[in-house]
Formats: sequence, structure tokens, C-alpha cells
Amino acid sequence: MDLFTPAVFGDLKLSNRIVMAPLTRLRSGEEGVPGELVAEMYAQRASLGLLVSEGTYPSLEGRGYPGQPGIVTDEQQEAWGRVAEAVHDAGGTIVMQVMHAGRVSHADITGTGRTVAPSAVAIDGDVHVPSGKKRYDTPHALTLDELEEVREQFVAASKRAVAAGLDGVEIHGANGYLLHEFLSPVSNTRTDLYGGTPEARARFVVETVRAVAEAVGAGRTGLRISPAHNIQDVWEKDADDVAATYAALAGGLADLDLAYLSVLHADLGGALVQDIRRRVGAPLIANNGFGAPSTRELAQQLVADGIADAVAVGRPVIANPDLAERWRIGADENEPDGSTFYGGGAKGYTDYPRLAL
Ligand SMILES: Cc1cc2nc3c(=O)[nH]c(=O)nc-3n(C[C@H](O)[C@H](O)[C@H](O)COP(=O)(O)O)c2cc1C
Repeated sequence: MDLFTPAVFGDLKLSNRIVMAPLTRLRSGEEGVPGELVAEMYAQRASLGLLVSEGTYPSLEGRGYPGQPGIVTDEQQEAWGRVAEAVHDAGGTIVMQVMHAGRVSHADITGTGRTVAPSAVAIDGDVHVPSGKKRYDTPHALTLDELEEVREQFVAASKRAVAAGLDGVEIHGANGYLLHEFLSPVSNTRTDLYGGTPEARARFVVETVRAVAEAVGAGRTGLRISPAHNIQDVWEKDADDVAATYAALAGGLADLDLAYLSVLHADLGGALVQDIRRRVGAPLIANNGFGAPSTRELAQQLVADGIADAVAVGRPVIANPDLAERWRIGADENEPDGSTFYGGGAKGYTDYPRLAL
């Protein structure tokens, strides 16, 4: 298979197999409403096979960063509708990454006076809040009733995303945020149905993805995971436990026909990732993690060797609105400017030049 061969993942039609990875850019203001600039940024990148939006919160309590967009209110939904329209007008396909930050936040950011997580285990470190730097809060351990509410928030957010006109949703189960926190025995020390064994730790993620798939259609639903990423104090250091936990997660989703599974991992061709892929039985979008940015050569090789069905690309897409065209002809790339990744305006967002052809 070639990177430039079109693909159909569930209900999603991809014109090529280069996917814009979800990229938090924090330009949606205090109200979490994406404006014209955000719509323009996504539309500029519509020649990629699929755009995955930045992590978008399904409830105020799930907000991880000031400036992050939400999908909670009618105003946010309408704003996302304008983003979807701009992308569609430019010929693209876009899904929303629905992200609950869990304990990777602070009471000053959630606005609910607390953060929540599977267990009352704090991240050992500092978090940026509007007034400066603070220690991470010890999160409130979600009760069984609250778990149901959070699951419903994911469902309601996904319904809003689709109602707004996006082509689907990606549930964020990676990078140390709420769903990932359930999977690790270090961040999840529960002794009820949702903690303890690998099956129990996988249960909340399985239930959430299933509920979303039932609400908006499995063919419009993707899931992102990052097994053994060991980030934000979500430690997954026991290889046997990791394999068993993700096997339980994959087994719980196997009958769904999800649109895709997106995996962030350094060893994409290895047994762990390929076993999860086989068990879930959905197209695999692969990303090799935060080390060196994705390259054209690696992306081509992953797809050509059958290791992945598509490749999620982060930093090169930030810097190159026309990355698909550049990779097609092997052109040079603009370098991403890390100082403008988070927050600000058009600079480092919509002003990266296209190739002069
Ligand atoms: C500025 C920035 C923001 C990111 N935001 C998200 C996010 O909202 N959700 C997510 O799952 N990953 C996020 N990531 C991770 C990327 O999706 C991707 O996995 C990572 O950048 C590695 O890919 P790359 O080497 O192609 O950049 C972010 C990465 C960067 C650099």
C-alpha cells in the first residue's frame, strides 16, 4: 500500500493516508469557542487524508488547559460547525478528538473547584494555571454515579460533534489523560469493578467507547491509545501487565467495527501494537511518539510495510499546511516553531507558507 492511496475507514473517506494528529493549540479563548482563525487553520490542511481536531473537552471539569476548545455548549457546537464547514468546503474530512483531561488539570482550570480521576493520586509536578505555576491537585476519585455521568458527557459531546457536522469523533485514551489514567495500576488503585485486574482497569475505556459508538455509530468512532507511554505519571512499566490490559481493552472493542484505532508508540511494528491491532480489527493509524518528529520516509515505510493503514503526523503538519503535496513530490519542509505551539494568534498558526508552485 502507498501513503497516497485513498482509504475508507468505517464511515470516513480519506483521500490519502496522511492524518493530521490531534494538536492542542490553545487559541479558543476563555470560553473555549473556536473562531474563524481556528477554522482557517484546519481548512488550510484539508488536503491531508483526515484531520483529527485538537483535544476538546466534553465537560468543564474535563478541561485541561486555558484556551482549549470545548464541545459542551450550543455556542461551541455552532463554532465547530463552522470549522467543519470550512474543512468540507476545502475537500477535507475531520473528526473531533474528545478529551477529558482527568487529573492533568487544576481546580483553577476546571472551574469546578476540583479535578477528577480514577483514584485520589496526584501527579508529582507543577501545572500552569492562569495565575502562574501551582502543584497538581490531588484529584477527587470518581464515584460510580459520577463515572456514569462522565460516560454520558463523552456521549453528549460526541453527539454534538456529529450534529455540528464533523465526520466523527476520536476518543482520547492516550497521553496520561482521564481514560489512560484508568488503564495504569499506578494511577488507578480502585478496588471496585473499575480497578485491580487488567480487565477491570480496561472496563471504563471499553464502556465509554461502546457508549459513544452506540450513540454516533461505530463507523464514525475512533480511539487513540498510547500503551506504555509512561507520561504524566501514568506508569505502565510491567510489560506483561501492559499486554494483558490492552488485550482486555482490545477484546472489549473487537465486535464493534470501529472506524479506526490510533496508536502512539515508539515500536509500532512490535508485538504489543500489532497484537492490539489484530484484536481490535480496525484500521490502524500509527504515530511514533514524541521523540523525533514524523518523517516522510518513516510514514511511507510504515504504510508500505503494512505496519499501519495510515500515519498520524503532528509537528510537520503544524509547520506545513500543504504537507500532503510536499510529501507527494518530496519537497523541503518548513520547520515548526515550538514557541508558537500553544496560545497566541495567527503567527505560527495560519502563516506557515505553502510551496510556491
Ligand atoms: C503542540 C502539540 C499538541 C499536541 N496535542 C495533542 C492532543 O491534543 N491530543 C493528542 O492525542 N496528542 C497531542 N499531541 C501529540 C501529537 O498528536 C503527536 O502524537 C506528537 O506530536 C508526535 O508526532 P510528531 O512526531 O509527528 O509530531 C500534541 C503534540 C504537540 C507537539
